[in-house]
Amino acid sequence: MEQSESTVNNSLVFAVNGKRFEVSTIHPSTTLLEFLRSHTPFKGAKLSCGEGGCGACVVLLSKYNPVLDQVDDFTVSSCLTLLCSINGCSITTTEGLGNTKDGFHPIHERFSGFHASQCGFCTPGMCMSLFSALVNAEKILRPEPPLGFSKLKVSEAGKGLLQEISAAVLGIAPLLMPVKVLQQMLIWRIWGLIPFGERFLKNETRSTLLLDSSRYSWYNPVTIEQLRSLLGFVEDGNGTRVKVVVGNTGMGYYKEVENYDKYIDLRYIPELSVIRRDNTGISIGAAVTISKAIEALKECNQGGFHTEEDMVYKKIADHMEKVASGFIQNSASLGGNLVMAQRNHFPSDIATVLLAVAL
Ligand SMILES: Cc1cc2nc3c(=O)[nH]c(=O)nc-3n(C[C@H](O)[C@H](O)[C@H](O)COP(=O)(O)OP(=O)(O)OC[C@H]3O[C@@H](n4cnc5c(N)ncnc54)[C@H](O)[C@@H]3O)c2cc1C
Ligand code: FES
Repeated sequence: MEQSESTVNNSLVFAVNGKRFEVSTIHPSTTLLEFLRSHTPFKGAKLSCGEGGCGACVVLLSKYNPVLDQVDDFTVSSCLTLLCSINGCSITTTEGLGNTKDGFHPIHERFSGFHASQCGFCTPGMCMSLFSALVNAEKILRPEPPLGFSKLKVSEAGKGLLQEISAAVLGIAPLLMPVKVLQQMLIWRIWGLIPFGERFLKNETRSTLLLDSSRYSWYNPVTIEQLRSLLGFVEDGNGTRVKVVVGNTGMGYYKEVENYDKYIDLRYIPELSVIRRDNTGISIGAAVTISKAIEALKECNQGGFHTEEDMVYKKIADHMEKVASGFIQNSASLGGNLVMAQRNHFPSDIATVLLAVAL
């Protein structure tokens, strides 16, 4: 199974809470959570449901985008995120915000002060969701708030947070506590908002982030032709279990217990990650995440509804926002969702809304 022209010798390198990790060999089915809990001192992220539902394993993933010269920070469920998929990224866990040795972060203190944590098992994940909301609010282009205040609006904070946290875990009343916590947190703009790893991310972003496929059994085709030849190998039927993957969140729904031998990561094929808008409509690549699709659809009608299409885009975005939680939307792809609906009879909301639009 050749990676042809893109054959590379890169190791799997990433950072956790500012500490650099280089993993020379690992089974490709290893999840980020398994690695964190068994190979690092950072045990804050927990395994609870293991299917992307509860948020106990949520961490912040930061990724440098060399084209835009910016760092994207977003939450992911580490129980579903495959370790090989975070090559070149930086991870922040609750210990990265603060700890007993260096002092707690104000988010930790507010959770504790408002008795918002109940048993505390999934609190580390909630802290990371709150941290992500505050970090990303700073990137929004809107008028500067009064000195010391965050750009995050309380209404957005409440909406975002409720979407991130599992009602099944907490019950309804305590869910409102972190929102109150957030109201108290909006003054924290001055400190505590810098995720780890910006320097790491810029230094580690090499000319290519493609992994050495023979060492990790992780393939990153960069063209449709390469993907075709890799898939041809799969069809040879030599007994090797190969999985095409984007966010790997489908594993949460199907609870796959058997590991795959090899993975083909679709995220490096430009055609599959493109979002293109023109006067004929909007095209969204199959590997685009639900979050990015929502963002793009909303951008279409930022200046108000000029056409019927603008209204339709807004409706699709509104519907997509109801799909799963924020940390799943951040890694789940549209293509993955539709393939699950097509092949596995998954009751997909996205397929439903797209079919409705087409009618
Ligand atoms: C907790 C949770 C809640 C969810 N809630 C909802 C919900 O409310 N509504 C809803 O509609 N969905 C929901 N989903 C489903 C979610 O949207 C899908 O899991 C996700 O979109 C799949 O994308 P992925 O990139 O993670 O796919 P992966 O897990 O990487 O792949 C899923 C499957 O599709 C195949 N595949 C992926 N991309 C392609 C491609 N481009 N071409 C061919 N095959 C491909 C893979 O081989 C695999 O078999 C939920 C999922 C979870 C885990
Ligand atoms: S353990 Fe529940 S979402 Fe990961």
